[in-house]
Amino acid sequence: MAIRTIREEGDEILGKKSREVDNIQDSKIQELIDDMLETMYKANGVGLAAVQVGILKQIVVIDVEEDCSNPIVLINPKITKEKGTQEVEEGCLSFPNKFAKVVRPAEVIVEALDRNGKKIKIKAKELLAQAISHELDHLNGIVFVDKIIPGTLEVVKQNDNTVKKDLKNN
Ligand code: NI
Repeated sequence: MAIRTIREEGDEILGKKSREVDNIQDSKIQELIDDMLETMYKANGVGLAAVQVGILKQIVVIDVEEDCSNPIVLINPKITKEKGTQEVEEGCLSFPNKFAKVVRPAEVIVEALDRNGKKIKIKAKELLAQAISHELDHLNGIVFVDKIIPGTLEVVKQNDNTVKKDLKNN
């Protein structure tokens, strides 16, 4: 496994659409998934899309647990149902110094393939629904700063290393 470089604000790849994966068992795809998980945990994030490490494939990893105990891998994911809205504080590993409020669905149902190619369906609410919505946006070339509620943007200095997992970072 290896830590990959996270693409940041200004990198045009973040605005591009990702393509479906049709060779999930391929060792390169499996290695990418392992690397994405490691990279997300190292960066104290709750989610990461493949495009954020420069690969335009429909793969996201998410873990919203503070003890990093529940890694979720979604391949070719689609939100099949959304319910309600939540106004939430959010950040993104590709925008390390920006935080803002955005509107996300309160609940989602997502259908995807797992890393073994098996169909999965997850019903999510609160932070997990937020993270799924945020990561699936990445696959469509949409980033959270496109959705900021006006007047809520905070730009912070990144001068100290945060050791605690930052639940706002997707
Ligand atoms: Ni993000």
